[in-house]
Amino acid sequence: MDIASRPSEPAASPQLADAAPPPQAPPVIRREDYLPPAWLVPEIALDFALGLDDTRVRSKLAVRRNPDGNGSTTLRLNGDNLTPVSVSLDGSAVNDWRLDGSDLLIDLPGEAHEVEIETAVNPAANSQLMGLYASGGMLCTQCEAEGFRRITFFPDRPDVLSTFTVRMEGDKQTFPILLSNGNCTDSGDGADGTHWAEWHDPWPKPSYLFALVAGDLVANSDSFTTMSGREVALNIYVRPGDEARTEHAMASLKASMKWDEETFGREYDLDLFNIVAVSDFNMGAMENKGLNVFNTRYVLADPETATDADYDGIEGVIGHEYFHNWSGNRVTCRDWFQLSLKEGFTVLRDQLFSADMGSAAVKRIEDVRILRAAQYPEDSGPLAHPIRPDSYQEISNFYTSTVYNKGAEVIRMMRTMVGEERFRAGTDLYFERHDGEAATCENFVKAIEDGAEIDLEQFRLWYSQAGTPQVTAKLIHENNFATLRLTQTVPPTPGQPEKQPMPIPLKVALFERETGKHHGEQLIVLDKETQDFPFKGYLRPPVVSLNRGFSAPVAIESERPDEDLVFLAARDDDPFARYEAMQSLVVRHLVKAVGGGLEERARDVERDAVSQAFEAILDSDSLEDLMRGELMILPAESYLAEQMLVADPSAIHAEREALKAWLGEELQDDFLDLHDRALAVPYSRDAEARGARKVKSIALQYIAAGDPEEGATRALAQYQAADNMTDRQGALMVLASLDCPEREEALGDFYKRYQGNALVVDKWFSLQTSSFHPDVLEHAKALANHPDFTMNNPNRVRALYMALAANPHAFHAASGEGYRIIGDLIRRLDPVNPQTAARFVPSLGRWRRIEPGRSAMMRAELEKIAAVPQLSRDVLEQVTKSLG
Ligand code: TRP
Ligand code: ZN
Repeated sequence: MDIASRPSEPAASPQLADAAPPPQAPPVIRREDYLPPAWLVPEIALDFALGLDDTRVRSKLAVRRNPDGNGSTTLRLNGDNLTPVSVSLDGSAVNDWRLDGSDLLIDLPGEAHEVEIETAVNPAANSQLMGLYASGGMLCTQCEAEGFRRITFFPDRPDVLSTFTVRMEGDKQTFPILLSNGNCTDSGDGADGTHWAEWHDPWPKPSYLFALVAGDLVANSDSFTTMSGREVALNIYVRPGDEARTEHAMASLKASMKWDEETFGREYDLDLFNIVAVSDFNMGAMENKGLNVFNTRYVLADPETATDADYDGIEGVIGHEYFHNWSGNRVTCRDWFQLSLKEGFTVLRDQLFSADMGSAAVKRIEDVRILRAAQYPEDSGPLAHPIRPDSYQEISNFYTSTVYNKGAEVIRMMRTMVGEERFRAGTDLYFERHDGEAATCENFVKAIEDGAEIDLEQFRLWYSQAGTPQVTAKLIHENNFATLRLTQTVPPTPGQPEKQPMPIPLKVALFERETGKHHGEQLIVLDKETQDFPFKGYLRPPVVSLNRGFSAPVAIESERPDEDLVFLAARDDDPFARYEAMQSLVVRHLVKAVGGGLEERARDVERDAVSQAFEAILDSDSLEDLMRGELMILPAESYLAEQMLVADPSAIHAEREALKAWLGEELQDDFLDLHDRALAVPYSRDAEARGARKVKSIALQYIAAGDPEEGATRALAQYQAADNMTDRQGALMVLASLDCPEREEALGDFYKRYQGNALVVDKWFSLQTSSFHPDVLEHAKALANHPDFTMNNPNRVRALYMALAANPHAFHAASGEGYRIIGDLIRRLDPVNPQTAARFVPSLGRWRRIEPGRSAMMRAELEKIAAVPQLSRDVLEQVTKSLG
């Protein structure tokens, strides 16, 4: 029976009839529905006739029925926005193919066939930057996760592995360099100024790892000798003129190759490793086999244009993509639900690499800061999902901090529980068992379980349960015993109202108040809802240092008195715990202050405690500046908001700024001394000089907070004297937030100086939209009309708008203007680049946790987006889930 004529259905009310039709929901893909492919493609030969606005692609597939498949005689080839120019089967043209949505279906009578398909694409019109696209006169590809189907029809799923042979030809002047995966097997000149090249990749791989690059590029070339003595040629390709800025990337690449041999026993497996930098790119970089494609911002650096943080970012991302060669490429993912198999593991690998290259303690603090700023809000919001999601509508939406950063934390916990050596035995077994396969997270856990000899039965819950566990700690002291009573709760998340207790490995040390010493660090594992851990031999109640090194990604709530936190901030021998004590002290104070629960007198007492802890940090001779800088950074506003059920962003901002100003005044002399001392250290890339630059600009922020005039004078002087971008940007950041003539002078100079250098102009945009200036939203609107602004370049879009969305002072402006700016952006960007547009939705999706007035405006913005006809799947999924 027709639904409309069902008698129980109420007649459509005028109200309903007037309402916009509900947006069409994209189909839901479920992890449980996984089926092996019906057909395999052991070999593919691709032939490209390259043109910027017209590229013809001929694809020849050797297909074979999968003995483990469902026996279907229909071959399904995914397509996206493609029309087949011709289709042939076993050498003859056929017409009995059909389209199912955008997929191409062909009936195959036998066990093995050859299918040949021709398609035509327009790279210049590809503004989504998925598939084959044009960027600054060159051609390049991005295929993860489902971009290959925008180039040719193919079973575009990671469990179909093929050996790729690629031939390409094109105009020699437009495309002097022709690259693909693997090795170049042949090349030559053709007619009419064309040339061609043939590439072969001996390692079977899924389509998402395919890459092609053609354009006018120059290489920084070097080589690396592997542990078994093979010589690998290394090239970093950039646009002519950028070669001089690739030294750091090259050094990072060689360091990564060596580190993976030494730490994980992983050797590179081709004779050639190419990196190409492109300026239009949706993400950071991509690990295509033997041909990594990078966002220019993670390749190009020199002291004049890149900050110390930029240098660190390059080292980390170069490492990350290189490490994917084993964790991702040699062992890939069975399906996209297993994304954390490669991403979580590879993030852990790049974190360990960066820790070994610099200060491990500082690196750990930075990792935790990112987790708390990006992942905790995800875990407590409408888009919360386990590191191995159960369903998705658009996979691009699941390249999240949860899959990446929490995924890394989950694997790190296994390593913490078994120790480095046994963990290595586990990863060795994993690579041995699954080399050449498309594996699952379960395969990984099982390999660690078997190789490291540990029972991970209950631990698997970390893969299936979303939400940040809350651990409450209580100390009971009786006679000679200190008993730690720990309780865990895993909060409900969408689709998961009830949770089971998980194993939580916690590193603990109990300090004696009198001696300031502890009896050794211990690892305890909380795996029940509530558990008592007794420690013998404490005559007086000890000071508890818990979750040292951030051994578990949980939120700790403890009743430790402020004086214990001051104690730990000053003398915990675990640098992370020291940082954590400092943060807890400040968080505790600010949460109380924001909640209005502090009388003026009590507030001053608490501020004094903070200021004393700060003084100890500023005075300490035993601290290196890189660590001192970390300890001086106040907890982020987003992290503070996270501590409250419903947050008032302007109250948080005001209290945090007030504390900064108070510290700036109270400790002015210390900050001035620190600033002077740091200014005297000459530029170099060593840890001491980098530390000096770090504390220099942080001290400047406090000085400006306490005394804006002194701050402006010093900032302009620092800006003008700067011989490197770290100092220049640090000074400009302070000036950008001040309402003073020095601001315009420096911003104007900066633009003139670096006009034409896209990465530095990006900084110029984001400095202004991340500022605390009262007119920040007016500045943002003016920048949107700046001739250098374009919706077509994701770096530029992020520079203007991501900086704004991440700046609570601007985004949460009481007028609602910040929400409208981001809402408008999402609507205008969606038709151009849906993947990037969707990344702005979560900021509006936090409406449930914001005070009612703003909350309503955020919701209204989401509803306005939902009402747009023909939204992309990307934005639609994020918006419906955020409203839901
Ligand atoms: N695999 C890439 C990485 O983490 C991520 C990536 C790069 C990506 N480009 C993308 C993911 C485009 C989705 C879409 O290193
Ligand atoms: Zn990755």
